[in-house]
Amino acid sequence: MTPSSSAHLPLGDQRSGRFYGKDILTVAQFGREDLEYVFGVAEAMRTMVQHIGTIDLLKGKILANLFYEPSTRTQSSFMAAMQRLGGSVIPISEVRYSSVSKGESLPDTVRTLECYADVIVLRHHEVGAAAQAAEAARKPIINAGDGPGEHPTQALLDLFTIREELGRLDGLTVTMLGDLKFGRTVHSLSRLLSLFGAKLHFVSPEQLRMPAKVTDELTARGISYVEHTSLSAVLPETDVLYVTRVQKERFEDLALYESLKHAFIITPETMKLAKPKMALMHPLPRVGEISTDVDADPRAAYFRQMEYGLYVRMALLAMVLGKA
Ligand code: ASP
Ligand code: CP
Repeated sequence: MTPSSSAHLPLGDQRSGRFYGKDILTVAQFGREDLEYVFGVAEAMRTMVQHIGTIDLLKGKILANLFYEPSTRTQSSFMAAMQRLGGSVIPISEVRYSSVSKGESLPDTVRTLECYADVIVLRHHEVGAAAQAAEAARKPIINAGDGPGEHPTQALLDLFTIREELGRLDGLTVTMLGDLKFGRTVHSLSRLLSLFGAKLHFVSPEQLRMPAKVTDELTARGISYVEHTSLSAVLPETDVLYVTRVQKERFEDLALYESLKHAFIITPETMKLAKPKMALMHPLPRVGEISTDVDADPRAAYFRQMEYGLYVRMALLAMVLGKA
């Protein structure tokens, strides 16, 4: 795949497209050709935003943003994506003020929202919630994070970030660091990277290792991965260092969280060991894993990563609504 292979994609009626009317629940739905298509549309969206700002591609369409867990980026970028494409949004960002607090089930909640909206973006604390919602709904459900399961749209924007920052996706050495057990973004991203022959390093405390469900899939696909408890040996050969937050909200034992939360901190000193050309990424929010002194380092890609997320989510909305 070359970075600019399909920058001029038609935007308009594309109801025969592979993702038209489809749910986006897991990265397993995406092959290399699909990814190339998503990235081509995302590039077109970037050009549009930079030159025009908004268009009427999704005029008259409505997105329901249904968030059972906190979010800044995913929620606001989907909202911005819909609005930049001329559509509008029903925001349910604090379900406690909705009828969920009266005991309404997830299936009934999505059946309600699809009466008013054309697509539903769902974040939930339980693995499999998006799939359960998709069973109940006729309209497309986009998984915006299901507990410690997956975060597919994040992984798509992460891959787009790598492609933009390094100019390629094949054969990279990618090191994932931090909470690999509960961090859903690394579960999705490592699966996607397996399509590109990545060499993976997983660095974490013993208690927060990558789940066997993910590593077994990687092994089945012939992807080599190595687990470590220290970063220093692998950093010099790393093309992408993907840092994650220790997921406090998933711990039953808060004392254990406290003992692990600062297991790894990236500082300017750490970055001295890294390649001159590499990308330091983080899905954010960060809570101390990357010192703010690193922000000015040109390799720190985490703020650009958020912006790429807008374009990728615009592409996904246009695709599921049959306009790209
Ligand atoms: N924002 C990402 C997620 O929701 C990462 C994180 O919260 O640590 O999975
Ligand atoms: N990266 C990410 O999902 O951020 P939010 O939790 O703020 O949406």
